[in-house]
Amino acid sequence: MKGVILAGGLGTRLYPLTKITNKHLLPVYSKPMIYYPIEALVNAGITDIMIITGGASAGDFIRLLENGEEFGLKRLHYAYQKGEGGIAAALALARSFVDHDKVCVVLGDNILERCIRKGVQAFEKQAGGAKVFLKEVPNPQSYGIAEIEGGRIAQIVEKPKSPKSNLAVIGVYMYGPEVFDIIPTLKPSARGELEITDVNNHFVRAGSMTYEVIQGWWADAGESIDSWIEANQLIAQHGANHPD
Ligand code: G1P
Repeated sequence: MKGVILAGGLGTRLYPLTKITNKHLLPVYSKPMIYYPIEALVNAGITDIMIITGGASAGDFIRLLENGEEFGLKRLHYAYQKGEGGIAAALALARSFVDHDKVCVVLGDNILERCIRKGVQAFEKQAGGAKVFLKEVPNPQSYGIAEIEGGRIAQIVEKPKSPKSNLAVIGVYMYGPEVFDIIPTLKPSARGELEITDVNNHFVRAGSMTYEVIQGWWADAGESIDSWIEANQLIAQHGANHPD
């Protein structure tokens, strides 16, 4: 399975910290934010990794991460996203890198306490389709929220005003290569982006979406200043990316 980390966007929710640099280069506890999703993939056994970023700080990712030696990698792959077309538009740039393989996509601001290796291994055995990870949250209006019926996801609603559950779809998604045929069929949402939730609902409707509720804490360090501070505190207290 290939790994793709999405590290673009304007990071407006963390402004002015993001005025002159990319959100994913900001420190979170003792490391730049982007280190955590790389470690999450490497700990799960995924070592073929592409980082997709954009904007004026794109070159800083190469200076920071070099060829991934610090993570035990021989090389890293990079792609450049022009503009801010959304998560699904960024993922489309990884098409030739992923090719006929499966892909684990991690949003560069998502940090996990525990390793995702078991979920990755389960998806290796799944015949294509998709798998997402869910986590109970106190503020479901801020995330993609999964409605569960009869042990399956019935629907995912992006940032619902009246959430039907408190199960957030975290920013770690696994797909078969058919995901790259779905993205070109999407229409931009109200915020003008190709939404990953629309990709996920395609798999829900096709009956090929599975899920797992994760153990341990999860932080979306880019959601707000408060969530960024909370991520720092969680790592200080409990550490992150613990092997299973
Ligand atoms: C994105 C997704 C959302 C998901 C969240 C997890 O939101 O659209 O479904 O729950 O990441 O971090 P965004 O951070 O782009 O608002």
